Amino acid sequence: MDKWITQNSISEFPQTQSLRRGIRTFKPRRSRITKSQQYAVDNSQELIIDFQNEFLNWPHQPIPLYLDIGFGNGVSTLAFARAEPESAFLAIDVHTPGVGDLLSKLHEREITNVRVMETDAIAVLENMIRPRSLSGIYTLFPDPWQKARHHKRRIVQQGIMDLMHSRLTSGGFWHIATDWSHYAESISDLFAQPSNTKKWSRGDQTRPERAVTRYEERAISEGRAVTDFHFLVN
Ligand SMILES: C[S@@+](CC[C@H](N)C(=O)[O-])C[C@H]1O[C@@H](n2cnc3c(N)ncnc32)[C@H](O)[C@@H]1O
Repeated sequence: MDKWITQNSISEFPQTQSLRRGIRTFKPRRSRITKSQQYAVDNSQELIIDFQNEFLNWPHQPIPLYLDIGFGNGVSTLAFARAEPESAFLAIDVHTPGVGDLLSKLHEREITNVRVMETDAIAVLENMIRPRSLSGIYTLFPDPWQKARHHKRRIVQQGIMDLMHSRLTSGGFWHIATDWSHYAESISDLFAQPSNTKKWSRGDQTRPERAVTRYEERAISEGRAVTDFHFLVN
């Protein structure tokens, strides 16, 4: 394989229980990784956390911990981390070039309150995050999985909602943004179900202070509205 091409295979990722066996919310991608991304990955051991089957021991003091699931190239993670330097942010994605981008920006800007994981975030939530320990979770522009037969791969689905709920503190939030109206409708419908309204409240839906990612830029240029959801654990 070309030195600067990475290809994740599904078997490299830990198995999850919240999704049916063999189902993933992402598709492994064959991606070109630049020398600088690879350099950042090879030289950032202090910022990388590997998957393990035990609870995470970071941050070392009781400060708010937030997850950015599917951070892409990390522009939102950076903005959150800079806005809240006293909080900790765990950024998780399966896409190696994006991991390299985020790591090199963290070095450049000397940001120390972010750790990065290159693995399936669902397995991390199940195995490494203590129940009722997270202050918030961001899932910005999750893959929409447009075809009906792929809806089972969407990250916003009942089993994963229950998992998120169990890991958040009371009052903790799950913030979701999507530019696909049919996904927004399905998110709305799911959270409006009586069994879910007992567990979640809808917070302020206005767009919070966050970076404009390339997904949002594309949505705006193609005339699609972006919907922000902010759900709070009751
Ligand atoms: C459409 S992109 C959005 C990226 C970024 N949030 C943004 O707004 O630019 C969705 C990202 O989620 C990642 N992803 C999907 N499911 C994931 C999972 N279970 N664990 C980690 N990353 C995941 C994909 O690899 C991809 O980078």
